[in-house]
Amino acid sequence: MEALLGEILARDAGVSGQVPERLAAAMRHGALGGGKRLRPFLVLESAALFGPPPAGAAEVAAGLECVHCYSLIHDDLPAMDDDDLRRGRPTVHKAFDEASAILAGDALLTLAFGLTAGATGLSDAARLALVSRLAQDAGAVGMVGGQALDLAAEAEDSLTEAQIARIQSMKTGALIAYACEAGAILMDAPAADRQRLRRYGEIIGLAFQLADDLLDETADAATLGKAAGKDRERGKKTLPALYGQDWTRQRLAALVQEAETVLAPYGEAGALLVETARYIAGRDR
Ligand code: IPE
Ligand code: IPE
Ligand code: MG
Ligand code: MG
Ligand code: MG
Repeated sequence: MEALLGEILARDAGVSGQVPERLAAAMRHGALGGGKRLRPFLVLESAALFGPPPAGAAEVAAGLECVHCYSLIHDDLPAMDDDDLRRGRPTVHKAFDEASAILAGDALLTLAFGLTAGATGLSDAARLALVSRLAQDAGAVGMVGGQALDLAAEAEDSLTEAQIARIQSMKTGALIAYACEAGAILMDAPAADRQRLRRYGEIIGLAFQLADDLLDETADAATLGKAAGKDRERGKKTLPALYGQDWTRQRLAALVQEAETVLAPYGEAGALLVETARYIAGRDR
């Protein structure tokens, strides 16, 4: 994935000579050099449940990673979480400037739709469905809407579990659910499989943000490559803050069980995705 993203950014944001060099460099800073690349992995492994994925599957996966990287660049801006460190390096607005960070995010988001629409070896119906699903999951009813709610919640006294879960499922769950559903879509899998993979993605998406919120409390910046211990200080509404770390660990274990149940129809073929759910719940970075 790292190599493919590097090639794409060299092609689309560099050697063509048409992209302003500072913008291209900010895009590379935000998208290359680190990151767990979980979302593209989920696209490719979900697709692999249905057979060998076509070449274009990697472009769909890279497109999603571009959306994710854009979301992080903007999430770190002073107007949002105001963070200086990401993936062990200065955030894009620190390494460059705020305007470059905003524009690099805009360009990565736009690039993502081009990559998805142009992915090779997919049916036209699959490419159309992917573009339309990504538009929802990245947008106001998905990630962007969740980010708006997350920021608005900072000023609230307290939120209920259901309200916090809604924020999590939008700001983080939507793109992870897209990753898993995209694997089924790009293989032209039946609607029941699309729905099942989406459900799996929703479950691990919740687990992913719960683990992130737990790590904010338990890990240090050197391990995470980003600031730790800031959520409470900023008034972020998280479930570890509401119910504590033990409750959170139990909830994570329950979510892994749920993911396993949802994937049961795939038998051995689903083993890697079950393993991924376990990794997400127990991750230490
Ligand atoms: C961080 O995502 C933001 C959240 C949704 C919690 P990741 O933990 O996947 O970030 P990278 O891509 O590995 O840096
Ligand atoms: C970010 O959640 C979710 C996004 C949509 C980017 P956080 O704000 O908790 O992510 P980190 O902790 O900065 O990576
Ligand atoms: Mg945030
Ligand atoms: Mg943040
Ligand atoms: Mg966080």
